[in-house]
Amino acid sequence: MLNFSRARTQPRSTRAMSLGGIDYVDPKKKSNFVGKILLAAALTALCILMLKQSPRFNSPSPFSHHEIGVTHVLVTGGAVKVLQELFPEPGRLQFIYADLGDAKVVNKIFSENAFDIVMHFAAVAYVGESTLDPLKYYRNITSNTLVVLEAMAAHGVKTFIYSSTCATYGEPEKMPITEVTPQFPINPYGKAKKMAEDIILDFHKNSDMAIMILRYFNVIGSDPEGRLGEAPRPELRVHGRISGACFDAARGIIPGLKVTGTDYKTADGTCVRDYIDVTDLVDAHVKALEKAIPSKVGIYNVGTGRGRSVKEFVEACKKATGVNIKVEQLPRRPGDYAEVFSDPTKIKLELNWTAQHTDLQESLRIAWRWQKEHHNGYGTPLAMPS
Ligand SMILES: NC(=O)c1ccc[n+]([C@@H]2O[C@H](COP(=O)([O-])OP(=O)(O)OC[C@H]3O[C@@H](n4cnc5c(N)ncnc54)[C@H](O)[C@@H]3O)[C@@H](O)[C@H]2O)c1
Repeated sequence: MLNFSRARTQPRSTRAMSLGGIDYVDPKKKSNFVGKILLAAALTALCILMLKQSPRFNSPSPFSHHEIGVTHVLVTGGAVKVLQELFPEPGRLQFIYADLGDAKVVNKIFSENAFDIVMHFAAVAYVGESTLDPLKYYRNITSNTLVVLEAMAAHGVKTFIYSSTCATYGEPEKMPITEVTPQFPINPYGKAKKMAEDIILDFHKNSDMAIMILRYFNVIGSDPEGRLGEAPRPELRVHGRISGACFDAARGIIPGLKVTGTDYKTADGTCVRDYIDVTDLVDAHVKALEKAIPSKVGIYNVGTGRGRSVKEFVEACKKATGVNIKVEQLPRRPGDYAEVFSDPTKIKLELNWTAQHTDLQESLRIAWRWQKEHHNGYGTPLAMPS
């Protein structure tokens, strides 16, 4: 398993190579300046020489060639720290930190690694933030998917599993949502994912790649063995998902939970979503991989088929955490839809998948256990790639 993510602790302007800030040269200091240039050139040459002699410089990636029975899978966007925690001594695993927004870097990685499968998770994924900063979403989701797909096509990678979302459907008139429900996304996040899907589907018409597009509904829960959990970067708390907000309220990091919108046309006035446990999501990926066929594209909803309201969610969260979370009712948030839940018939029939591990209160209880033991998440969060 690999990961494409890079710590970006510096702003873009200072990350770029610069000529040491030499914009203006005082004539009196010219000879000094030439001396500095010569010294810099000599140092650079020395560094290159030393690097070339280093054993790592010329050693090919362990994924540069195939061995019988070994499949090379590129996973984009899995939490870097999570993978490092799970595989402290990587052995055959290799971690690559790269920004998918940089096509040159991505192509270099593909040319150095013979990948068989790409599972493309990486994305900025906050509906609320997408309405405030739409261009970030089109670049990060749509444009980066294009970069990944181009690199796959150029380097002959044969299987693609794509993380899409129920947000591509928008707010359909008819529930539940099937895979043929028309897609009219209503926020930039959903639109960016829909555009990415369209790119993939157009590409597929003249390709023998095996493609699976999984449209997840709302993901909750965490690893039952307690190794993994949800740890959004602090600056995203304000846009965060309901589970994160409930836990933050239960931990007292925020004074209470803000429920945005209580006048929707739903049974109790709050939004209804189809929550799916992350363990079920993992199973769906395993099944999708098993059934991926060259030249075919499969599109599947990944949900339980049951909608739960925000009010129900909050009650389950109170029980799971044992904390009487304070709730504040606010007006609707832009970009939200009233009610969304899936019809998971197709994925059951074709991939033999159904949600086995999703139980709102139990999923939240497991996630809460991790939250309590990891007050600082995975430590210092890595900065977000573009
Ligand atoms: N969480 C949900 O409820 C949900 C629902 C539907 C679909 N999805 C999809 O599932 C996937 C994962 O979502 P998540 O909730 O875990 O999101 P997340 O924000 O928690 O994680 C996304 C990961 O992508 C990485 N990433 C983003 N831009 C990158 C870039 N340019 N280069 C490299 N890495 C980059 C981030 O560093 C992070 O590790 C996304 O594609 C999302 O759209 C999630």
